[in-house]
Amino acid sequence: MTRPYTPTQLYIDGRWVDATGGALFPVHDPATEEVLAQVSDAAADDGTRALDAAVRAQGDWGRTTVRERADILRRAYEMTLARIDEFATLMTLEMGKPFAESRAEVVYGAEFLRWFSELAPQVAGRYLPAPVGSNRILTVKRPVGPALLITPWNFPLAMATRKIGPAVAAGCTMVLKPAELTPLTALLFTQVMGEAGLPAGVLNVIPTTRPGEVTGPMIKDRRLRKLSFTGSTPVGKLLIAQSADTVLRVSMELGGNAPFLVFADADLDAAVAGAVVAKMRNGGESCVAANRFIVHRSVADEFAARLAAALGAIEMGPGLRDGVGLGALIDDRAVAKVTRLVDAAVADGATVLTGGTAPERPGFFYPPTVLGQVPAGSGILREEIFGPVAPIVTFDTDAEAIALANDTDFGLVAYVFTRDINRALSLGERIEAGMIGVNTGLVSNPAAPFGGIKQSGLGREGSVEGIEEYLETVYMGIHLTDPDAE
Ligand code: SIN
Repeated sequence: MTRPYTPTQLYIDGRWVDATGGALFPVHDPATEEVLAQVSDAAADDGTRALDAAVRAQGDWGRTTVRERADILRRAYEMTLARIDEFATLMTLEMGKPFAESRAEVVYGAEFLRWFSELAPQVAGRYLPAPVGSNRILTVKRPVGPALLITPWNFPLAMATRKIGPAVAAGCTMVLKPAELTPLTALLFTQVMGEAGLPAGVLNVIPTTRPGEVTGPMIKDRRLRKLSFTGSTPVGKLLIAQSADTVLRVSMELGGNAPFLVFADADLDAAVAGAVVAKMRNGGESCVAANRFIVHRSVADEFAARLAAALGAIEMGPGLRDGVGLGALIDDRAVAKVTRLVDAAVADGATVLTGGTAPERPGFFYPPTVLGQVPAGSGILREEIFGPVAPIVTFDTDAEAIALANDTDFGLVAYVFTRDINRALSLGERIEAGMIGVNTGLVSNPAAPFGGIKQSGLGREGSVEGIEEYLETVYMGIHLTDPDAE
């Protein structure tokens, strides 16, 4: 399959340029292991060049009207959707997910642009009397300033637009470092942003295979004012530590270990349908993927059998082939990790209800897998699987279910299936997660605040909270005298 055209150079100050020294790196198709493109490999100097451009552009860009910025986002939204098949083909080729899922991501990703184009004009300060005395309180919002955006490979478009949308709306300039495994979608989107009218220097893009070398000096540079990262918790911790030096504002969307709770009173058809979405969206390569199925003992066997039937019926293969519902995982390390976790769970006593063995290469495939009777201490319940594997454990009481759900350092999302509204709402107050899906396997929505608690992150993306991550609140205290008093 020939890939759609996409730029392959760095984008700095409104121009496509080679990396310093001309280095290139290959991008692979995980379904075939073939090289799709050679992309410019940014060095530390390119990071500095990109930040210089963002800093130069910040003053004028921050003073543009909200309407100008909203119009650019709206045009980018329409232009992205107009090229949906091109984006989706590219995404499937470099990331592996089935074409239909890539199309769904283009819609999801574009929606952040529309959402923030509509939210931008609503950003406002406040004016109010101090509770005591004659002072008045005036607050205004300002763009936080040049931002470094680091995005992952699993949603190559949506994770970029979820950051670029609010940054543009707020008036921030940016340097984007897309994941080295999937830079092509981000580069195509960069071209669209230029065509939508984004001025030179506002968005600079630097793919690199040396992330630490390139972003380290940028994070230490006091001209950088914001870091937004989506990725693993260990890397997030490292970036938070680096950010301490300049007290950099950080937003962190990190790992998860989502519990999926099925109670005895749940509608089992809905629970299985929700489980398929929560587990199989993006092939399980998502931080909101259900990682642990915690099922009431009285329905566990039936739920497991039905889930195994549903997952076992999914066709696995190259994402561009018709009928495929599960594409390749991102690379050989992903397959090795899933294999290790499944094999260890089986050694611990779990039973394989479907799947369980990776096919021969070429291609980084692992089949949909359901594991029953997973012992409580098994490692697969502690680590983020990031693959199409559903381990099932059982519980007897609500208290036990909550204890199992909260027994993790992560707190991104939880899913709850019950017909009892009282139980659902009270679980909503007791489960330690930033997002809770009630009788649904999908919480991701541009209008909803996406983010976690505990070691799953800091801050929120999307919704009205998302733009606040790119704004400073400045307060003016105004002493008012009474004109009649003179
Ligand atoms: C992620 O996996 O990082 C994001 C998933 C989503 O936005 O649904």
